[in-house]
Amino acid sequence: MRIISAPDYASMSRKAANLLSAQVILKPDCVLGLATGGTPVGVYKQLVNWYEKGDLDFSKVHTVNLDEYIGLPVTHPQSYRSFMNDNLFNHVNIPIENTNVPNGNAHNMDAECARYEKLIDSLGGVDMQLLGIGNTGHIGFNEPHDRFDTTTHVVTLSEVTIRANARFFDSEADVPRYAVTMGIQTIMKAQKIVLVANGENKADILEKALFGPINPQIPASILQLHRDVTVFADEAALKVIREKHPQAID
Ligand code: F6R
Repeated sequence: MRIISAPDYASMSRKAANLLSAQVILKPDCVLGLATGGTPVGVYKQLVNWYEKGDLDFSKVHTVNLDEYIGLPVTHPQSYRSFMNDNLFNHVNIPIENTNVPNGNAHNMDAECARYEKLIDSLGGVDMQLLGIGNTGHIGFNEPHDRFDTTTHVVTLSEVTIRANARFFDSEADVPRYAVTMGIQTIMKAQKIVLVANGENKADILEKALFGPINPQIPASILQLHRDVTVFADEAALKVIREKHPQAID
C-alpha cells in the first residue's frame, strides 16, 4: 500500500486524477470502478478539465459504480446516477451505455444484485476502483458487519451514514434507509484500488482502517490485504497517521 500526502483537497484530487488518467491512457478500453460522495468531486472535475484540454479519451472506457440508494427515483438529483451524470459522464465522451450504476428501483433486488455481479465479470473485472471512506469505515455502502465475504447486496444504512449524507438532502428524514452496494469481495477483485480521503473528520477512521486490526467491523481494513492500493489523502485526513506512523507516508 502507498499513502501519498497532499497539502490540501485540490492537490489530493489532482494526484488521484493523475493515476486514473494514466490508467485510461495506458488502457483506453479499461473498466473504471467509480465512487460518489463529496470526496471524489474534485477528482472528476480534474478529469473533465483534462478531457476538455484534449488529454483524455473516454470513448472506449466502461464504468461500474459502487452503489446506489434504494427507492430514490433515478432522476432525483441525489441519486448516484444523477451524481455521476452531473459530475462526469455528461462532460466527457463516454458513451452513456458504457456507464453502469446499480438499479435501486429494481422489482427484484436479488436478481439485480446477481445481474450487477455478472455484468462486472462480463466486462472482464475492474481495472481501477476509486473509493472514498465513510465515517464508519465503510467502502461502497459496506457498513460494519460480521463478515467480509459479500458480493453485491442490499444494505441498511447506519445512523452515522444517514447523518453524514443528510448534508446532500433537505433533511435527514429524506435520506434513503437502504442501498445496494458492491460487496467487499467484489471490491477486492479490482486489479488496482485508489482510495481518496480528505478532512480531519476522516483522520481517526483512516488510521484505524489502514493500521488497525483487519476486522469486518471496520470494512475498509480489508484493503490492507489488497496487493495494489494507493491512498491519496490531504494532511487533515492524515493527522493521526502522521502522528502514529509518519514513516508510512510518501
Ligand atoms: C460512495 C460510497 C461511499 C463514500 C463514503 C464517503 O459511492 O460508496 O463509500 O465514498 O461514504 O463519502 P464522502 O466522500 O461524502 O465523505
